[in-house]
Amino acid sequence: MTTTAPGPAGTTPVVTAPLAAGPTLADTAPTVLALIAGYVGHRTVAIGLRAGLLERLAEHPGATADELADALALDPSYVSVWCRAALGAGVVERSGPGFRLAPNMATLLLDAGSPAYVGGVFGVLEAHEVFGRFEQVLASGERMWWEDTSPEWIAAVSGTGTPFYTRLVPGGLERVPGLAAELDAGCRVADTACGAGVGLVRMATTYPRCTFVGVDGDRHSLDLARARVDAAGLGDRVQLVHSALEDMELDPPARVVVNNISMHECRDIDRVAQNVVAALEPGGWFVISDFPFPDTDEGLRTVPGRIMSGIQFFEAQIDDQLLPRSAYDDLLTRHGFTDLGSVQLTPMHALTHGRRP
Ligand SMILES: C[S@@+](CC[C@H](N)C(=O)[O-])C[C@H]1O[C@@H](n2cnc3c(N)ncnc32)[C@H](O)[C@@H]1O
Repeated sequence: MTTTAPGPAGTTPVVTAPLAAGPTLADTAPTVLALIAGYVGHRTVAIGLRAGLLERLAEHPGATADELADALALDPSYVSVWCRAALGAGVVERSGPGFRLAPNMATLLLDAGSPAYVGGVFGVLEAHEVFGRFEQVLASGERMWWEDTSPEWIAAVSGTGTPFYTRLVPGGLERVPGLAAELDAGCRVADTACGAGVGLVRMATTYPRCTFVGVDGDRHSLDLARARVDAAGLGDRVQLVHSALEDMELDPPARVVVNNISMHECRDIDRVAQNVVAALEPGGWFVISDFPFPDTDEGLRTVPGRIMSGIQFFEAQIDDQLLPRSAYDDLLTRHGFTDLGSVQLTPMHALTHGRRP
């Protein structure tokens, strides 16, 4: 409705639009309540993963709370509380007198070999290294580095990185023009910031004609990588080097350099890019596989944007931040890479690639 106010004497009346009514409390409260509900769902899934409740339900669909409690030596009344919360969160559904996992939950939460696996993220976000320590050092701003983190943290990060490698190898790499044929024929491949070696094992198994070098700055991660590579019987084709990427020198050079969810962590990203250029044969490929952090407020408000904002709490403590994908276009362009391209594999995973001239 509009109102007409008299204008100054002898002038036309002023027509004013009604003041737009702001949102009511009832309009706004659901935003806040959804945050609380999300927290409850997160904790419910994390407990279900750690206590084996989700795995048991995957193996025994229709199990009652009492049967679950009995099988896992847990308190029956507590397990029934968990079941109701899991039902509310949409993670389980009723099955007769018992419960079963909702469709696709086994893949999303339990199948570490699936490209869709997100079960590892629950452990990462619950780890002290993300929100707990952040709040402790919020005033001091004290930073840390990988050697200051716990073995549990390294294991959780590796679990989160695994589906990134699963999507990268071989599917993601096949989308880089010309690359798959060279990998199939056999060449030297470097995994820079190889972490606990999941990607090295994945690549060495997928490309049996290739040799590999994994480089990482964290000694504990490299020990895990060595154990993983040896356990897979791949030790003769996989070399490991303890070095900051800023100091990396590879000899012989590689045909392909990959970097999985780590490029944003480089202390000096331009020095690392220079070292990658030096480590590559002419025509060799550099493939950066990383979280594409939103560069708009709209993107920050999406579910993937909000999850990546959670990861930023850890990144801040090691003095970096996830980067928008376009930052890698700029980086590769600055360092003379050609044939630039990018592939969005999921809303939280993008590849940026280029070739050394
Ligand atoms: C998020 S983890 C990812 C590890 C592995 N790529 C994966 O996906 O499981 C990051 C790894 O990068 C390593 N890293 C980060 N910045 C580094 C740098 N500048 N030089 C060497 N290693 C680095 C850390 O030690 C850690 O192992």
